[in-house]
Amino acid sequence: MNQNSEIVQRRKKRTEWFLKDRFGMFIHWGLYSIPARGEWIRSVERISNEDYQMYFEEFNPTGYRPKEWARLAKKAGMKYAVMTAKHHDGFCLFDSELTEYKAPNTKARRDLIREYIEAFRSEGLKVGLYYSLIDWHHKDYPIYNDANHPMRGNEKYKYVKQDFSNYLDYMHGQVKELLTNYGKIDIMWFDFSYDDMIGEKWRATELIKMVRTLQPDIIIDNRLDASGQYNGSIKTANPLMYSGDFASPEQIIPPEGVIDQSGNSIPWESCVTLNNNWGYCSNDNIYKTPKVIIRKLVECVSKNGNLLLNVGPDANGKIPEKSIDILKKIGEWMEKNHESIYGCKKSVFSKPEWGRYTQKGNKLYAHIFEESIGPINLNGLNQKIKKARLLSDGSEVKISSPWNAAEYSEAAFINFGEPYHFSFSLPDEMDTVVELELI
Ligand code: GLC
Repeated sequence: MNQNSEIVQRRKKRTEWFLKDRFGMFIHWGLYSIPARGEWIRSVERISNEDYQMYFEEFNPTGYRPKEWARLAKKAGMKYAVMTAKHHDGFCLFDSELTEYKAPNTKARRDLIREYIEAFRSEGLKVGLYYSLIDWHHKDYPIYNDANHPMRGNEKYKYVKQDFSNYLDYMHGQVKELLTNYGKIDIMWFDFSYDDMIGEKWRATELIKMVRTLQPDIIIDNRLDASGQYNGSIKTANPLMYSGDFASPEQIIPPEGVIDQSGNSIPWESCVTLNNNWGYCSNDNIYKTPKVIIRKLVECVSKNGNLLLNVGPDANGKIPEKSIDILKKIGEWMEKNHESIYGCKKSVFSKPEWGRYTQKGNKLYAHIFEESIGPINLNGLNQKIKKARLLSDGSEVKISSPWNAAEYSEAAFINFGEPYHFSFSLPDEMDTVVELELI
């Protein structure tokens, strides 16, 4: 086996649980929840370190109850979580010995990442850490010529002497702390590469070697050489050591899922916001509905992918009420229909007109989104179905060959209106799932 196919084999093994679990919670939380205009605020509004400092002085999340977050995630049917240990602003929610710019030095006075890890673990969820490669606080992170730094183009920083290798030591050192001090970590979510800040610029091979030594089973995203915009070298037939274990499309569900150059499906996870921001944004009240999220989760699974759904807790440490309500509704659906999500993947049958299929062995799940005026056709399934049940309550869904479908002999049909009506509403308007046991 050459080194590259070994990388693919190991990736396959490592990501087994991940691709079964399918649904996770992303948590973006930090100082930016105080100004509450999203996590890019420092860059967008070009706020200096000095001016941003007031949020550090003020940060006091007395309402932080990670146990409640974990229970909420679990109830929603999520199986894992990823939380920002450090975002681009450089502020650390964890207790790092390498900086003073951390939660234990705020009024919070403690390691907030430790509490998150313990809470989620104790609810049986897998835990992941988001770590920003970018750092707008560190003195040796590129400033003047950088594309995103809040002080880009600022003459004051034009001739400041910097030593990027010093930043890299710091960044590697913090990753080491995160993967040494908290027991088993399931996912490492680096964010992100751009311009020439990519791959070996981060000393990526060295970093990955360390990560794998500390946490052999951890799975790592692809952003040491990619971003939400590009999938990077994970898509090549010969991935590199730092190409990552899964692709991370952002705010999009890829048309055909993510495949490599030889056409093989590779692990992927779409990360998606509930409103239009990752970090808390008090004026952003445009939320996706539970129905949309449920259908998008189904879409991901039907294309062999995962969904990482974001919440942005406020300055006090509370997940917005609206997000909580949506997650609860998703949970109600998941409670009855999770069999059609966990362990499922792309079906051997192509996408039906009225919705989507997911599949697990000989169980084919028909996710019916669209109402019909009569029989719903299951293309190519005539004589192939042993039994059909409504997944939510186990009741029989009758397979029929109606008189008016005599010309479509390849298809099997179901009809929720039978025996009385031709027109009906679906049992679940979010997503009616029929479990089809195949012969
Ligand atoms: C982007 C943004 C960042 C966010 C991330 C989530 O790369 O820079 O703010 O954390 O996407 O995928």
